[in-house]
Amino acid sequence: MSDEQQPYMREVRSFVKRSGRMTPSQAKALETQFAQYGLKLEQGLLDLTAVFGREAPLVVEIGFGMGDSLVAMAQAMPEKNFIGIEVHEPGVGRLLNNVALAGLTNVRVFCADAIKVLEQCLPAASIDTLQLFFPDPWPKKKHHKRRIVQPAFAEQLRGHLRVGGIFHMATDWQPYAEHMMEVMTAAPGYRNPLGEGQYAPQPEHRPVTKFQRRGEKLGHGVWDLMFERIS
Ligand SMILES: C[S@@+](CC[C@H](N)C(=O)[O-])C[C@H]1O[C@@H](n2cnc3c(N)ncnc32)[C@H](O)[C@@H]1O
Repeated sequence: MSDEQQPYMREVRSFVKRSGRMTPSQAKALETQFAQYGLKLEQGLLDLTAVFGREAPLVVEIGFGMGDSLVAMAQAMPEKNFIGIEVHEPGVGRLLNNVALAGLTNVRVFCADAIKVLEQCLPAASIDTLQLFFPDPWPKKKHHKRRIVQPAFAEQLRGHLRVGGIFHMATDWQPYAEHMMEVMTAAPGYRNPLGEGQYAPQPEHRPVTKFQRRGEKLGHGVWDLMFERIS
């Protein structure tokens, strides 16, 4: 039965859990590394200083996929703390493996719905940058409600970003880029530092992601959007 047909479905989710096979090393990493780097919804509101053992600017990435770009960013910016959130278990396994291999101490990971992580675990005004790279575009009109960038999401996120913090989006799907621009331009409490309606050039600190490469092979363009919380 599809989600649409389920009579008692209460929430519209931005993801469908993919069945992707887990490699033995990803499964092992989930088993052995999650205790060290993993965070769970049941922990409730986090004390971030205790979680990382230090105070540092926090970067949160929603939907990191296989996580290679998140690991590269965490390696390049040891002065920042990173929390990755992903529901796709093989991706979480791969990230855990790579974090352990690289000996990184500035990365933690949730295997959970990011909406719930924001709601239950991340303190108000705690995030310096929220990264959302190549989120599922949900191209069919009947699925547009599943797109994670919506007015309610912008408002939920605003409470978690510190004033001056940045919501950085990227997509290879032009209609979603336009939707992001429309939603975020209308969202109270944000401004586009590049000027109204302007897309950002891909910043040097953002590595090319797996889905970006896939989009490029299909001939898609790339749109980066930055919005700053101003109030
Ligand atoms: C199209 S993929 C992009 C992956 C990666 N950012 C990249 O660019 O290669 C989108 C990812 O977002 C994840 N995702 C979607 N909604 C999510 C949510 N609410 N919480 C956590 N992960 C989510 C999906 O599982 C999927 O892996």
